[in-house]
Amino acid sequence: MTKPHTTLDGVGGYLPERIVTNDDLATRIDTSDAWIRERTGITMRHIAGPHETATFMGEQAARRALTRAGATAEDVDAIIVATATPDQGFPATAVSIQHALGVTGGFAFDISAACSGFVYALAVADAMIRAGQCRGVLIIGTEVYSRILNWQDRGTCVLFGDGAGAAFLRANTNGADRGVISTHIHADGRYGDILYIDGATGQTAKPQHLVMNGREVFRHAVPKLAGAVDEALKANNLSHTDIDWLVPHQANRRIIDAMGKRLNLGPDQVVVTVDRHANTSAASIPLALDDAITDGRIKPGHLVLIEALGGGLTWGSALIRM
Ligand code: COA
Repeated sequence: MTKPHTTLDGVGGYLPERIVTNDDLATRIDTSDAWIRERTGITMRHIAGPHETATFMGEQAARRALTRAGATAEDVDAIIVATATPDQGFPATAVSIQHALGVTGGFAFDISAACSGFVYALAVADAMIRAGQCRGVLIIGTEVYSRILNWQDRGTCVLFGDGAGAAFLRANTNGADRGVISTHIHADGRYGDILYIDGATGQTAKPQHLVMNGREVFRHAVPKLAGAVDEALKANNLSHTDIDWLVPHQANRRIIDAMGKRLNLGPDQVVVTVDRHANTSAASIPLALDDAITDGRIKPGHLVLIEALGGGLTWGSALIRM
C-alpha cells in the first residue's frame, strides 16, 4: 500500500478587532513611530479584547482553515496547538479548541516552542500523518502576547501583537506532487536566557512577563535560520532558484530582508506581514500564508519555504508544495 504523505489543504487566520498603532504606543511610553519603523518595520499590531482568548482566536482561524479545505469538524482527528500564551495550564488550548469546534474524537495537545511553534507543529503533524496515526490534522498557532508583555518595557512591548492562524492537513496516498516535502527542527537550550517568559504558572504574586535581549536574539537569528534553510534545500536537492515564496516568521523586517537577500529572492517573493501584525509568535507564519493565499499571490503548485526562530532557542524550516 502507498504510504500517506501530508497535504496542506486550507489555511485561515484571525486578528483581534482592536488595532494599536505606533503613535498610540508613543502616547503611553517613551518611543516613536520612527524608531519602531526603522528598527523593525512594524507600523501597527492587533491587540486582543477580553473575549479574544487563545481558544477563541484559534477556533476562528481553525474554522476558516476547514472551510478553505472543504472540510468539517468530522474530518478532524487531531489538533495540535502551538502557543506560548495558553488560556490555562491545562486543559491544553488544543483540547479547548477541540470542544469549541464540536470535535469529540481523536486527540489534541499543545506544544511549546515559542515563535517556532508553527514549524514544530507542522513537523509533528507531518510525522504522525506519515506514520498513519491520523488523517485530518488541524495545526494552529494562537497567541495573546499582550497579556505577558511588560507594557513599561519599550524594548519589548512595541514588537509583539496578538492573533491566530491555522492550517488543515490531510493524509494523502495520491498526488505526491504536492504537500509537505520536508521539515527540519532544532533547539539549543544554552540560549534560554536571551528570550524567555519570567515566572512560572501558579506564581500569582509575580506577573509573568516576556524578557528579551534583542541584540543577542538578532545576532543568532540570521545564521541559525540560514542553516535551517540550507539544510532544507540540500536534503531535497533543491536550490534557491526553485523557491517561489519565502514565508518567514514575522519578527523583524531587517531579519526578513536579510533572509530574502541570502536566498537571492526578490521582494515580490517574500511574504511580509510584520508591518501590520507585528510579531504574533506561533501565529505569524499561518497568518502570513493566509494573507498571500487569500490575495492570490501563493498559488497551487508553488514551492513555499517557511522558517522561524524563537525562544529556547528553537528554530526550523519546512518546504511545502502548495
Ligand atoms: N523606542 C525608542 N527607543 C528604544 C526603544 C523604543 N521602543 N527600545 C529601545 N530603545 C532604545 C534603547 O533604550 C537604546 O537606547 P540607549 O542607546 O540610549 O541605551 C537604543 O534604543 C538602542 O537599543 P538596542 O536594544 O540596542 O536597539 P537595537 O538596535 O538592538 O534594536 C530591537 C532593538 C529589539 C529592535 C532589535 O534588537 C531586534 O529586532 N532584535 C531581534 C528581536 C526579535 O526578533 N525577537 C523575536 C524573535 S522571535
